[in-house]
Amino acid sequence: MIHPDALDTRAREILRRNDRGCYTIPTSGLYPYQWNWDSAFAALGFAEFDLKRAWTELHTLMAGQWDNGMVPHIQFHEANPGYFPGPEVWGCEGLGPVASSGISQPPVAASIAWKLFRKDPEAGRDHIRALVPRFIRWHRWFMDWRTENGAVCVTHPWESGRDNAPDWDGPMAAIDPVGVGAYSRRDTTHVDPHMRPTKYDYDRYIWLVQLGRRLNWDEAALQRENPFRVADPTMTFILLRACRDLAEMAAEAGHGTAEIEGWVRTLETGARTLWNARIGAYDARDMRSGAFAGSISNASFLCWYGGLGNARMEAHLRRVLEAARFGVPSFDPEGARFDANRYWRGPVWAIMNTLIGTGLSDAGLDALADRVRAATRALIAQNGFAEYFNPFTGAPAGGGAFTWTAAVWLGWASPGKEE
Ligand code: SER
Repeated sequence: MIHPDALDTRAREILRRNDRGCYTIPTSGLYPYQWNWDSAFAALGFAEFDLKRAWTELHTLMAGQWDNGMVPHIQFHEANPGYFPGPEVWGCEGLGPVASSGISQPPVAASIAWKLFRKDPEAGRDHIRALVPRFIRWHRWFMDWRTENGAVCVTHPWESGRDNAPDWDGPMAAIDPVGVGAYSRRDTTHVDPHMRPTKYDYDRYIWLVQLGRRLNWDEAALQRENPFRVADPTMTFILLRACRDLAEMAAEAGHGTAEIEGWVRTLETGARTLWNARIGAYDARDMRSGAFAGSISNASFLCWYGGLGNARMEAHLRRVLEAARFGVPSFDPEGARFDANRYWRGPVWAIMNTLIGTGLSDAGLDALADRVRAATRALIAQNGFAEYFNPFTGAPAGGGAFTWTAAVWLGWASPGKEE
């Protein structure tokens, strides 16, 4: 096993290597642009050795905000033919200040800004004064356009960040990707196709992008016409936590908090609508058919991060931690749709372990939090800074030298964080 100090050094090198000056790419080749939640995690990592650079990352991310408040999931700062679908496929010209995709991603950024602020409040005060109004507009966009009974919906699997999770299988099957046309994937030129979504999934991903483009990414039209509208535990718990943190940050920056506190209450009610009594767990729910997905995923275990954990979820967590060696697999290892290597259908993701572990320790479940953290530490120490990992063997999967894995090592998993 490599010495932890050497791992800290390597993690910093990865962040520096992926740094493009004022934003950070997830990894070269596979993901050559600025991704929304990847970028927020990059800030968490930079904060361990260059707090100024960490704030720059968040300012760049939020500067890509559209007039309607949305913060896109990809900002295409410079052309790169190695990625598909690029800006010419998304068709978002003129909708935002930077070439971008037309969907968002889990809003971890406000919670990470709040962490940065608490590291050095004096240095952070001007930053939060500038960023809080942007976070408020982004969160309001979710509340205005994406909530159903208070739960937050995604309009594309990519928006959830968990692209091919079994959560979307029902609504994806309801799409007939007629007319999608020929296209050429680039992801499978960078990574083993067995670790990536299938062609069946990709046809539907591209069909949904074409639909959004046809509707000029108009949220009211998407709300009416998009067959894919799924209430998602990732979005709901992460936005709930982000609003709790934003309320504290807004107060610190001299803003009113009543509107944000109202969102917290709405989201708490909404998160409870994701409780699937049949499986005794938080689940995704297709808002077009009303059907639950029947999925116990790593997003279900974000309940403590959102402040709504319970004993049933704790029992599920103990069960999956027994089944897997390296933390929380992206799908229940006892589930029929589990696939240990295929992206969000089984592998372990260090960022999800981090959010789950953070929620557990905030809820006072210290022994469980320590267990998830120790598993993540061993995973990275033994297998490096991959995008994701096989949950039984720890074998690295997807892209290598990955920003968010390096970032959560520095910000949460490194032994240095416990001193
Ligand atoms: N994760 C998607 C991809 O693989 C897009 O966000 O390209």
